Amino acid sequence: MAGSRPGTAAATADALRFSFCGLKFASPIVLLSGCVDFGEEYTRVEGFSNRDAGAIVLKGTTGKPRLGNAPHRICETPAGMLNAIGLQNPGVEHVVTTVLPQLDFGETRFIANVCGSTLEEYVEVTRRFDQSAIDAMEINISCPNVREGGVAFGNYPEMSAQVVAACRRVTQKPLITKLSPNQTDIRENARRCIEAGTDALAVINTVMGMAIDVATRRPVIGNLQGGLSGPAIKPIALLKVHQVYEVARAHQVPIIGQGGIVTAGDAIEFLIAGASAVGVGTALFYDPLVCRSINDGIAAYLSAQGLKNVTQLVGTLRTGRDIEDCAVSG
Ligand SMILES: Cc1cc2nc3c(=O)[nH]c(=O)nc-3n(C[C@H](O)[C@H](O)[C@H](O)COP(=O)(O)O)c2cc1C
Repeated sequence: MAGSRPGTAAATADALRFSFCGLKFASPIVLLSGCVDFGEEYTRVEGFSNRDAGAIVLKGTTGKPRLGNAPHRICETPAGMLNAIGLQNPGVEHVVTTVLPQLDFGETRFIANVCGSTLEEYVEVTRRFDQSAIDAMEINISCPNVREGGVAFGNYPEMSAQVVAACRRVTQKPLITKLSPNQTDIRENARRCIEAGTDALAVINTVMGMAIDVATRRPVIGNLQGGLSGPAIKPIALLKVHQVYEVARAHQVPIIGQGGIVTAGDAIEFLIAGASAVGVGTALFYDPLVCRSINDGIAAYLSAQGLKNVTQLVGTLRTGRDIEDCAVSG
């Protein structure tokens, strides 16, 4: 970190690299699950490079292959999109034996997104990834688009903790737990997941929503409801990240903040709120090369603020009080 001349490419690289759960990240950007398939989605886009991301989270993976939900599965909404893919994936065995060998682990870190309908399925998928080259695992207890599992676990702190504890028993690899915004008390859920042994938290998954076709009076999304992502959810995500940070900082559990990040300014807000890394998902659909400008913008901000490394920015929100003490007013 020390020694590079300010303004040089080496100084930018030094400013952005840091350690996340013991893994070397070249950038605080994490490409989010479901938005880059299994890591190969954007390789055909000229100028796209895995090296622009500290890590890439693969599509949610279950024990057996899943076909996902009936169409329509996505629709555009003001400043965002709804999706109800329903965890379409080829199953963990295929991912481990066929997909992972094709990924270039020299370019970035790869994180699996572990899903299940039962506690046993979460354990089965975690155990299989534990025997693979994957760098870390993200436990998805917050998917709003499947009838069983997912958010059914993530909305109840006791059940969330049970899933984390069960997965913890079968792997030593870093475990990240992805929390749902669709619950009463995200702080309590974060606290229970930390006690159960998660190494990090991902905050937030999508917010439940729906859209109606007025001509037919039918729901646009085949699943009726879907998960809202993109800039529309950014203020919600930012608040949840800060709330979780107030719980997680005492345990030094890092957060991957996410929800609507499009610009360097968005990413910087999440870092200040308490995120150690920042996820980019929906923005990739309309600008696959967005990571480079976010990286450059973060590095320029750090330099202007006289900060040598991105870790110095994390949780630096200037406020005299805890968020719990602030009344909500209309
Ligand atoms: C089409 C689509 C598919 C997604 N699939 C998954 C998934 O399989 N597992 C998961 O944990 N999150 C999934 N997500 C949620 C994203 O990883 C991310 O948490 C969310 O979209 C918020 O970030 P964003 O606003 O930058 O997109 C999906 C999101 C989208 C838009």
